[in-house]
Amino acid sequence: MSTIETERLVLRPFRESDAADVLEYLSGPLPHCFANLKLDTLDEARAEVVKRGANPEYCFAIELKESGKVIGEIEAEPSTYAPPRLRSKETTPLPPPDTFSPSLILNAMYHGKGFAYEATYALFNYLFTRKGVRRIFAYVDDYNARSQHLCEKLGMRREGLFTEYVSFVRDAGGNPVYENTLQYAILKEEWMNRLKSKT
Ligand SMILES: CC(C)(COP(=O)(O)OP(=O)(O)OC[C@H]1O[C@@H](n2cnc3c(N)ncnc32)[C@H](O)[C@@H]1OP(=O)(O)O)[C@@H](O)C(=O)NCCC(=O)NCCS
Repeated sequence: MSTIETERLVLRPFRESDAADVLEYLSGPLPHCFANLKLDTLDEARAEVVKRGANPEYCFAIELKESGKVIGEIEAEPSTYAPPRLRSKETTPLPPPDTFSPSLILNAMYHGKGFAYEATYALFNYLFTRKGVRRIFAYVDDYNARSQHLCEKLGMRREGLFTEYVSFVRDAGGNPVYENTLQYAILKEEWMNRLKSKT
């Protein structure tokens, strides 16, 4: 079980008592990429915190130190992509994942206060220095300016734009709405060099 402390935040595994705070930020408007996370009831939120609590190494509640309130969540997911020719050969074991992708949601009441940067910076440090991660990448919708700004502030490189890459929601006629997706990434070496240049 891991806990990461920053100046104003504690990133820690979810507890059942977090359900009301989670409902608060997952019942409001969410970007399309998180549409499937939308919650309507406290019972749904209780079930979700149990699921999140089962992944204490990579899924964190973002707790505000001064009040103990959970103001969001941040998770790092291993990239499971492997070319089909590797996936199908039992004799070729896949290396353990060293590439992770973060996802982050903050309660809208706490946007614009630097908490997203503080939490993500701490998670990247944790992944690169304590979990042996080599590469972190993020997919960001092309209209999500706040998230793009965050990636750039963290020193991630913009690697590409995938046009009509994925669909998370349907329009009124039931047709998939396709998103243009930006990919950002940073390597451990790049992260460590940034840290060195700041000291
Ligand atoms: C993406 C998201 C997490 C970004 O949150 P955010 O509040 O914009 O980001 P930050 O917390 O880093 O705040 C940014 C601004 O807060 C202010 N700020 C920074 N540090 C601060 C501090 N210590 N005290 C007060 N204000 C501060 C600054 O104006 C900063 O802008 P800057 O980076 O240009 O200096 C948020 O918009 C969100 O949850 N969106 C919905 C979910 C989502 O889109 N997730 C990403 C999917 S790819």
